[in-house]
Amino acid sequence: MDFRAITSSMGIPAAGFLRREDFGKDFFFGSATSAFQIEGASDKDGRGKSIWDDYADDEKRHGKSLFHPYGEDAVCHYKHYEKDVEIMKKIGFNAYRFSISWSRILPTGRAGCINQKGIDFYKKLLNKLKVKEIEPFVTLLHFDVPQALEDEYRGFLDRRIADDFRDYADICFREFGSQVKYWITINETWSFTYGAYVKDSLAPGLGLVEDQFTVYKKAITNIDGSISHLEKENDADSFLFLPCRYSRPTSILKKSIENPIPICSQKEDPYKFAYIVAHNQLLAHGKAAKLYKDNYQRVQNGKIGITLVTHWFEPYDCDSQKDKDAAKRALDFSLGWFMHPMIYGEYPKTMRTYVKEGHLPVDDLEADKSIIQNSCDFIGLNYYTAIYVSHRKRKDRDGKKPESNYVTDQKVKHHVKDSKGKSIGKQQGAAGWIYRYPKGIMDLLLHVKREYNNPLIYITENGVDDPDDHSAKLWDSIYDHQRVSFLHDHLSFVKEAKRQHVNVQGYFVWSLLDNFEWKRGFTSRFGITYVDYDSEKQERHPKLSAAWLKSLLENQGCRA
Ligand code: NOJ
Repeated sequence: MDFRAITSSMGIPAAGFLRREDFGKDFFFGSATSAFQIEGASDKDGRGKSIWDDYADDEKRHGKSLFHPYGEDAVCHYKHYEKDVEIMKKIGFNAYRFSISWSRILPTGRAGCINQKGIDFYKKLLNKLKVKEIEPFVTLLHFDVPQALEDEYRGFLDRRIADDFRDYADICFREFGSQVKYWITINETWSFTYGAYVKDSLAPGLGLVEDQFTVYKKAITNIDGSISHLEKENDADSFLFLPCRYSRPTSILKKSIENPIPICSQKEDPYKFAYIVAHNQLLAHGKAAKLYKDNYQRVQNGKIGITLVTHWFEPYDCDSQKDKDAAKRALDFSLGWFMHPMIYGEYPKTMRTYVKEGHLPVDDLEADKSIIQNSCDFIGLNYYTAIYVSHRKRKDRDGKKPESNYVTDQKVKHHVKDSKGKSIGKQQGAAGWIYRYPKGIMDLLLHVKREYNNPLIYITENGVDDPDDHSAKLWDSIYDHQRVSFLHDHLSFVKEAKRQHVNVQGYFVWSLLDNFEWKRGFTSRFGITYVDYDSEKQERHPKLSAAWLKSLLENQGCRA
């Protein structure tokens, strides 16, 4: 299947109007990917393990395979990178956002032992992009922390990670900086914090679950007798740095037990780890950015930023001031958590008010402020969906102190319309978490402009996975009308935000290819290019959305 075949069999979908020139000639249009999700070759050419190798492995041992159904290695981009750049070129993209695998460059996570073959791979990729006149936007860390650093000091729970990250960044700036003008330090700090340390949807999966104590007891009975004294429930409070599931590899479990961090129990505050992890990400980002600005920026003439994500939050009852305040708090607890320290050098007031005394690392932020504040030349924003928020008074688990923190009530999100008939959008996508709400992208852009002094912004991800009924079948999947209208509508709101003077200068669709969607494995397809997982060569076929983007970029005036 090629572009001609798909457009001649279908034509380009009609209705609405968008033109390439609406965005200005300097606007970047591209697609985004990340190393672990597409590269494969995880044990080739000296790459060290990342936390995702272990996590995916672990899931497999416990009966849930996240791996490729046919034993292939992600979608073999390591092998087929040239072909993939050709696809971008054919579509007409002028930019590409990808990530470097830290453990491919530094197998032990530490500078000192550089893997030359890893460097060579990214140089070849960058050369190919250069020949095709595609601007690289390079992310240094997209969830795949080196396993060695997780084993040594528990990765982002320890501030030592910030120096190791800076040293890794240093190597990347030195080796690739002559070809890279746009650096993104870390991807989606909020998702990593929340998914890995509050919940268990991302590696290393150390969030606390409801039945933590039960799981915890099971866990220790899996290991040797020396730790059996931990079975007493009372000990749990001081040993809660434990994997939330008994399925974590024994090595990690043992480390945690040998060297426990006395912290709160889930009863106290399930976010306790998260605040530490968030701070250490800000610090790592800040150190890398400072190094870039001090040592490289003048010569290499590039920019450095970070990629943040948030849902857009709509007050459930738009006439209720309390719901409006709750929506504002929700934004502060996701986007503001990172934006405020970088712009204003402190956490949002709502966080300082509502987070339990002593949990938010305000003193650490004060001490590290000179590194974190003003560290970005631009902000990367990922936007996918919106949810309703309503105000709810909650009680502490011990029933004492009333809390009025924001609530993103799951039940609310299932109402497609509120009592006044206002629609928040339809659920779309196999994974079920994407509620289509294109206006949210504009609301978010306007919010960032207003609250944070109109920074330079790139939309570094936006997209949707195929709905369930499109499953994995080539012929169903490539006629992705829903994705075409999703992209059209979101781009229309980006255009409107630009008209309202938001300084947004680029848009990257997630994703170039169907790929490994983290805990959902290969069951959720986000690509504008279909990957035939059955085929030996992981064949690529453009979907209708790729053809639609191509015609938009050829400035044909593009309808959806
Ligand atoms: C954001 C993440 O950065 C990316 O890795 C993921 O695949 C997409 N969201 C879709 O869930």
